[in-house]
Amino acid sequence: MIRLDKVSYQIETSAGAVQVLRDIDLELPDGSISAIVGPNGSGKSTLARLVSGLLRPTSGSVRLLSDVDTQTVMDVRPGLDVGLVFQNPDNQLVATTVEDDVAFGLENLELPHAEMVQRVGDALHLLGLEQFRDYPPHRLSGGQKQKVAIAGVLAMKPSFLILDEATSLLDPTNRREVMQTVLRLNNELGIGIVIVTHLLDEVLVASRVGVLANGVLAAWDSPRAVFSNQTVVELGGLVLPLSARASFLMQERWTDFPLCLTPEEFARATCQLI
Ligand SMILES: Nc1ncnc2c1ncn2[C@@H]1O[C@H](COP(=O)(O)OP(=O)(O)OP(=O)(O)O)[C@@H](O)[C@H]1O
Ligand SMILES: [Mg+2]
Repeated sequence: MIRLDKVSYQIETSAGAVQVLRDIDLELPDGSISAIVGPNGSGKSTLARLVSGLLRPTSGSVRLLSDVDTQTVMDVRPGLDVGLVFQNPDNQLVATTVEDDVAFGLENLELPHAEMVQRVGDALHLLGLEQFRDYPPHRLSGGQKQKVAIAGVLAMKPSFLILDEATSLLDPTNRREVMQTVLRLNNELGIGIVIVTHLLDEVLVASRVGVLANGVLAAWDSPRAVFSNQTVVELGGLVLPLSARASFLMQERWTDFPLCLTPEEFARATCQLI
């Protein structure tokens, strides 16, 4: 489990100190799916970097707790414990072939050659990229590039994967495909997932959603609880999924109409009225 205790992050600028995040408490259990939402500049990417160990908090702590022995606490090792995938795959792909790209992060680990080959092969297989092994990454589509970026992160065998708006440049088909792949990694390998997104449809798979507003965690709850809380919705500048908005409209006429998060739930609830 990753635990954040009273994490604050401050940066010094020529205009003075800027408090980016303030007193964030969070627990991310192993194998869990969580989401972080909030307006531009609310601190989501900063939080993603803190959780992944790429940044150190100004105060408070980000620690890895062993689930077996909760007395054991460690610092998060970037890449090894937590892999971070960014919005734009072009900024993450560095090598001239897909295979070399996936191997790139491993080069510093000084693994035996056979292990490295195995890990690259496994990561390519998991993402369905074997046929692109020798391709130059820049020839791939956006969705395929994003999968190569994920494969490179996965080859490091992290316990957690953080996707920082990793699907926002993709078309709906590629987005769905990348999300399905990520859910499969969670399901089959037990990798914990943190989805940072503006797309509230993507957070429905999360057991907990964190809402950041001006560097403060305004909520940390189930999607249903977060979407039901009008104050949090406004603070986070959230545009709810269509089914949720339609549910609120229905509630103006049928006060006990439930909050529906998916079209299927909405159709079922509507049929019950007839
Ligand atoms: N190194 C830095 N120097 C100056 N300001 C910074 C730095 N890092 C973060 N900030 C500021 O901290 C705030 C939070 O930035 P962050 O990138 O975490 O927001 P975000 O929620 O990811 O936004 P977006 O939705 O646009 O990606 C912003 O106001 C940003 O300008
Ligand atoms: Mg960001």
